[in-house]
Amino acid sequence: MNKVTVVPGDGIGPEVVGAACAIIKASGAKVEFEEVMVGLRAEKEFGTALPVSVLESIERNKLALKGPTQTPFGGNYRINIERVKNGKEMRGDYPSIAIALRKELQLYVNVRPIKNYPGVASRYENVDLVIFRENSEDLYVGNERMIDDNTAEAIKIITRGATERTARYGFEYLKRTGRKKMTIGHKANVMKLTDGLFLKTGQDVAGDFPDIACDSRVIDALCMELVIKPESFDGLLLANLFGDIVSDLAAGLVGGLGVAPGANIGKSCAMFEAVHGSAPDIAGKDIANPMAVILSGVLMLRHIGEIAAADRIDAALTQVLAEKKHVTRDLGGTAGTKAFTAAIIAKL
Ligand code: NAI
Ligand code: MG
Repeated sequence: MNKVTVVPGDGIGPEVVGAACAIIKASGAKVEFEEVMVGLRAEKEFGTALPVSVLESIERNKLALKGPTQTPFGGNYRINIERVKNGKEMRGDYPSIAIALRKELQLYVNVRPIKNYPGVASRYENVDLVIFRENSEDLYVGNERMIDDNTAEAIKIITRGATERTARYGFEYLKRTGRKKMTIGHKANVMKLTDGLFLKTGQDVAGDFPDIACDSRVIDALCMELVIKPESFDGLLLANLFGDIVSDLAAGLVGGLGVAPGANIGKSCAMFEAVHGSAPDIAGKDIANPMAVILSGVLMLRHIGEIAAADRIDAALTQVLAEKKHVTRDLGGTAGTKAFTAAIIAKL
């Protein structure tokens, strides 16, 4: 029996994560849930948005299903972690809960499959690609400071080690899933050293995978091509910040943020979460689309070898989407989160 740490999170998090857990239970997958609290509720209750016990729960279970967490813009909101791990005192200081979790648990690659589902309106057909986003460095670590009142500075870090393990995970994933091509997105023409190193390292790893074609695009040109002919892409290897941006763009190619799942994979732990955020504008109204978290749950089941349960959920979801009778507003229906979830469970 696999135990999963469930992190409902903020905003629509509890609604959509609750839906995914109910569906996973109904699928017959051999998993148990251990629910923990992070975010605004945890801050009220424990005085910190990310209690150390949450990290320990995920490290113990090796698996987490996470809802979105809310990060205030600007100001000096930080997540500070102080803990003892393997007898060593450790301190961390991060700009958001999501980043704190990824760093503390060393979830080095973010995997985001993007594909069309029947019944989900989109401008495109036949989109089926997977984004591999480096998850631990780049401008995204929030290494910033004010030089004076009118000047702010951020430091971009790219290492061969982090790039290589992300690239290797990506190429192996493509090979395992029968895919054919990796495209490396970068800005090496301008950021010659940092993105230059990212590109070169990706290409070096490609050398070990002769069966997978590898090409590259300057990031802005990649964005343009993605909206013109997304069906021509297969795997995308991206550094952290470009990966973040292109993930939302790619979600838009197949119906929006409500439908895009993700996995954060590390050497020992894996955490599954939707690409979307906490959607405070629609929280608590039973209108959020749970599909992205449900699909994140499907990725989790595949990751732990519960393939039959994953296939059952995928098929049930596909049927409900195709029928279009019980889908949420963003998918053109009138059903609430709960009715959509119940319809999927009824098909299982
Ligand atoms: P968002 O993804 O929460 O919302 C963007 C738009 O998409 C909103 O109009 C929202 O209603 C809609 N939307 C998102 N998910 C939906 C769903 N499942 N069903 C239907 N509509 C959906 O992005 P936003 O507004 O930029 O961020 C809100 C908060 O979420 C911020 O505090 C942000 O920091 C946080 N966030 C957290 C993430 C995480 O925990 N991994 C990821 C992205 C954002
Ligand atoms: Mg994002």
